[in-house]
Amino acid sequence: MPILNSVYRHREHGGDLSDLAAYHASGGYSSLRQAVAMKPDEVLYAFHRSGLRGRGGAGFPMGRKASFLPSDAALAKYLVCNADESEPGTFKDREIMEFNPHQLVEGMAIAGFAIGAERGYIYIRGEYEEQARALDEAVAAAREAGFLGSGIAGSGVTFDLTVYRGAGAYICGEETGLLESLEGKRGQPRLKPPFPAVKGLYASPTLLNNVETLAAIPPIIEHGPDWYADMGTEKSPGTKIFSVSGHVQQPGNYEVILHETTLRELIFDLAGGLRADREFKACWVGGSSVPVLDASALDTPLDYESLQAAGTFLGSGGCIVMDDSACIVRASLRLASFYRHESCGKCSPCREGTTWMEKMLQRWVDGDGRIEDLEMMEALFGRISGKVLCALADGAVAPIASAVSLFRDDFVRVIEDGSPPPAPMTPELARA
Ligand SMILES: Cc1cc2nc3c(=O)[nH]c(=O)nc-3n(C[C@H](O)[C@H](O)[C@H](O)COP(=O)(O)O)c2cc1C
Ligand code: SF4
Repeated sequence: MPILNSVYRHREHGGDLSDLAAYHASGGYSSLRQAVAMKPDEVLYAFHRSGLRGRGGAGFPMGRKASFLPSDAALAKYLVCNADESEPGTFKDREIMEFNPHQLVEGMAIAGFAIGAERGYIYIRGEYEEQARALDEAVAAAREAGFLGSGIAGSGVTFDLTVYRGAGAYICGEETGLLESLEGKRGQPRLKPPFPAVKGLYASPTLLNNVETLAAIPPIIEHGPDWYADMGTEKSPGTKIFSVSGHVQQPGNYEVILHETTLRELIFDLAGGLRADREFKACWVGGSSVPVLDASALDTPLDYESLQAAGTFLGSGGCIVMDDSACIVRASLRLASFYRHESCGKCSPCREGTTWMEKMLQRWVDGDGRIEDLEMMEALFGRISGKVLCALADGAVAPIASAVSLFRDDFVRVIEDGSPPPAPMTPELARA
């Protein structure tokens, strides 16, 4: 069900808080003043106690990650915000950066203070021009008002931010690929460990979090960590923004308290349901890199543990919905093409495996498939997953392997007969 008290200020206060005066009038930057009057350790404890989990995909507890940074005050430390938002079906960070950039800036200033960093970076995907502009303006206004720079919010603390635009590569959303790119190198993932908390940007301890994660910090400080932890469940506290796209009447971002809303309510109540006379076929609920679900999962509550029990992941919360007009084999081909294109090429199982997946799916869609191909495809999945440097390859296999397993009859039919081209999707048809 919709929530009354949003974690994200612009949702509660009239839509657009990109202007500093508007953000300030809504109570903005009071949390930063509150935080700098505390000890850094107390702020870190608040992160930990809130139970806030990373919203970029992996769901790692934010406070725990921050506590991995060495406390040695002599070491330079960095805070990096992952604003790459390239996961297909995911567009929630975009909304925060465009309409509420100060909440992200404030969250980063608080996190920077807590870990002892004097410099932070926001790495934003190249295609997000308007959002980069909104962030640039917010950073300049916050600096002018004394919320960034030396002596933030009247304290003796220094923290400043730089907005850095990427060039539109999915792999630069992977945290170590991002750090390479931020250092001006080719965006290819690093071997882990060491993790960024120990050796990150410029080989220094670095806290790296997603936009939605960092923007949740000001209300956690303002209302207290227990306020946040009391929403949802013990393992899934707080709210989460789900981006709903595909065959729904009202695509968009919907913020829900974790566990209180089911997948069915998200799709049918909040996002307006399917087109007339259509049946639900499938959805990828956590972005395109997670296993697909069919109608039997519709009553699953939206939280980390329930979605895992249903065989998938909450991921980034990009919920891509398909009705029964969609061909699951074509959809799998579309994803395989994306991952083949975005593989950085460093590991052969990923570079070659994604190419093979795409080629086989293309052959099936074209009607040139052989039934033995299915077994070959399944063997291929096992040769890619877990045998590579980063999670892009697992994310390429998961949605397709799950589709083959859940919708095997569809795959057999397409292998035998091919898949006719989809009907044109005009706006009128989409609304019909
Ligand atoms: C291929 C790939 C792409 C990713 N893209 C993003 C992204 O666009 N934004 C993001 O926040 N995390 C992305 N991640 C996850 C990050 O590596 C990292 O876990 C996350 O930014 C950490 O922030 P969090 O703890 O706040 O979630 C991606 C991971 C992989 C493997
Ligand atoms: S798994 Fe793929 S994207 Fe990740 S490092 Fe290896 S080749 Fe690059």
